[in-house]
Amino acid sequence: MSQAPELITVRTEGRVGIVTLNRPKQLNALNNQLMDELGAALKAFDADAGIGCMIVTGSEKAFAAGADIGAMAKYTFADAYNGDYITRNWETIRSIRKPVIAAVSGFALGGGCELAMMCDFIIAADNAKFGQPEIKLGIIPGAGGTQRLPRAVGKSKAMDLVLTGRMMDATEAERAGLVSRVVPLDKLMDEALGAALTICEFSLPSVMAAKESVNRSFEGGLSDGVMFERRMFHAMFATEDQKEGMDAFVNKRKPVFTHR
Ligand code: HXC
Repeated sequence: MSQAPELITVRTEGRVGIVTLNRPKQLNALNNQLMDELGAALKAFDADAGIGCMIVTGSEKAFAAGADIGAMAKYTFADAYNGDYITRNWETIRSIRKPVIAAVSGFALGGGCELAMMCDFIIAADNAKFGQPEIKLGIIPGAGGTQRLPRAVGKSKAMDLVLTGRMMDATEAERAGLVSRVVPLDKLMDEALGAALTICEFSLPSVMAAKESVNRSFEGGLSDGVMFERRMFHAMFATEDQKEGMDAFVNKRKPVFTHR
């Protein structure tokens, strides 16, 4: 990163890179600067051999309450379309090859919910609230919400959320499959760090291949996805870590992976 970020904080914990969204007065409303800083921080961690997994989190009150409405309010269609306003830098996170966990407390609304869904999985605090309230602003989700939400929770609940703009709490989100775990608020970072540190112990080629393969299930058809997975599975047998992992299992010992 060329200069110190202003709207995020960045730290590491062992091999885990942690990015905290830090625009508290605006409930972490997402603007271009914040998204640029987030993208740059994640890319730097992705390129850092000392990092095996990342966490994106916000504040207790808000993971992120959406794209910055004040900044968008006066935009015309031409402003939005010509400048690719707000969405231009949202896809950076999709290019990250190492796992990214969203640790969500408080509001994850609109672009905030979409950002959480762009991460590989979501661990939620019990005070988390998810929603796509764009309909209330006379717009629709613009960062993949209409595509990722139905894949996560099914058509009926996605339509309900997108069309009514209502929020769902952490319990409902877990039941619907949007989040992988719900924990008490004061345990959120411990839980996310525990998951991240577990992932960091595994062989990085297998971790990245697993992520890439799961993501394939969301692109294209089932047959293509299954074939892609098969080829990646076969490729794993070219790694020393596969030999080590399976030898360790057969010999009832703990594996020591080389490529971490
Ligand atoms: C800009 C925001 C904001 C947002 C909150 N704030 N959300 N500013 N953009 N998305 C600001 C408020 O204006 C207020 O500033 C301060 O944060 C605190 O918010 P309050 O509303 O006072 O807090 P509270 O009463 O607790 O209500 C919380 C809330 C509400 C329910 C989350 O703020 C809310 O409904 N926010 C908007 C949610 C939303 O519509 N999100 C979707 C945005 S569109 P002041 O200066 O008054 O203290 C979107 C499109 C994505 O995300 C497209 C992606 C490319």
